[in-house]
Amino acid sequence: MIVLGIESSCDETSVAIVQKKKKDNFGKILSENTLSQIKQHQKFGGVVPELASREHSNNLDNLVKKTIHEAGIKISLIDAFCATLGPGLLGGLLIGSNYAKSLAAASNKPFFAINHLQGHLLIPRINQNINFPFLCLLVSGGHTQILISEKFNKFSLLGETLDDALGEVFDKVAKLLGYDYPGGPIIEKLATKGENKKIFNLPMPMIKNKTMDLSFSGIKTSVRNVVNNSFDRKLENQLCFEFQNCVTNCLLSKCETAIRYFKKTSKSNSFIFAGGVASNDFIRTKLKELCKNHEMNLIVPEKKFCVDNASMIAWAAMERLVNGDKSDSLDIVPKPRWELESL
Ligand code: KG4
Ligand code: ZN
Repeated sequence: MIVLGIESSCDETSVAIVQKKKKDNFGKILSENTLSQIKQHQKFGGVVPELASREHSNNLDNLVKKTIHEAGIKISLIDAFCATLGPGLLGGLLIGSNYAKSLAAASNKPFFAINHLQGHLLIPRINQNINFPFLCLLVSGGHTQILISEKFNKFSLLGETLDDALGEVFDKVAKLLGYDYPGGPIIEKLATKGENKKIFNLPMPMIKNKTMDLSFSGIKTSVRNVVNNSFDRKLENQLCFEFQNCVTNCLLSKCETAIRYFKKTSKSNSFIFAGGVASNDFIRTKLKELCKNHEMNLIVPEKKFCVDNASMIAWAAMERLVNGDKSDSLDIVPKPRWELESL
């Protein structure tokens, strides 16, 4: 089976071709091309939806041709076409999904409408033996959720942020300090030069609350107050360390509750950490320690699979295809909001 996938839900235009042979357990990426729009959005301090749509529209056609060429196959060999249908920015979703639908219609092949979050959570299965069910922590620019993945298409939500997504908070803290979008990597870098002590006394909202829900807006406001009150720039690294440490502790506390809950109902010990924020080595290391203490196996995708990419979209369609899941009608329309639980 060969699947071509398109990802265009935010600020990356990405096309990938993934293959899975019947005799193999794993999949193979035949080719992938990702164009990041970061440079175009940087001067605005975040993603500008209109600009993102225009960039996707300008680049997608060439990217599809290049990706098919690099895979070394004829388009007629592709068994299915897919694209991210949501969640994400409407303009980008329309461009990517309409393009994939047109390819499917012209080639008389099935079209799969893929949930972006499902892509983030299933991609580690492309090259690792991870059985269902597994526990998941999904942390991106738009989501912060703890879930159980029961099957490739069945997810139950255990808890989530009640306000800002953690990636978004990393971006806002970076912006407050005068750094460009995306903020996560720069905050992580500055934090490595901070020390493990508490000068700023940042809050840890919801930490005593027994649910698995999280909240980050209070931490963001506290950082803003620090920065806006005659902040000594020499303490910037320290502030980044304390911010990162504080949000990590919030994640760890809720993940610990989730692990205890998961262990009551399942013998599985797999825990997947996915989404853009999963590229953060500090959070990875801390989560790994927590998992080790609870005899869980933490699986973190390779960094190229943490940020948005089309391989994860094509792979999610492959999982549906090989499980005999019905393809989608070409009438289906993008879903800017699309919870995993409603798959
Ligand atoms: O999954 P993703 O590529 O796009 C969405 O689906 O949102 O995640 C992007 C988010 C951004 O907010 C970015 O700042 C954050 O992931 N991010 C990080 C790191 N690398 C990317 N956050 C913390 N530490 C990082 N190293
Ligand atoms: Zn994403």
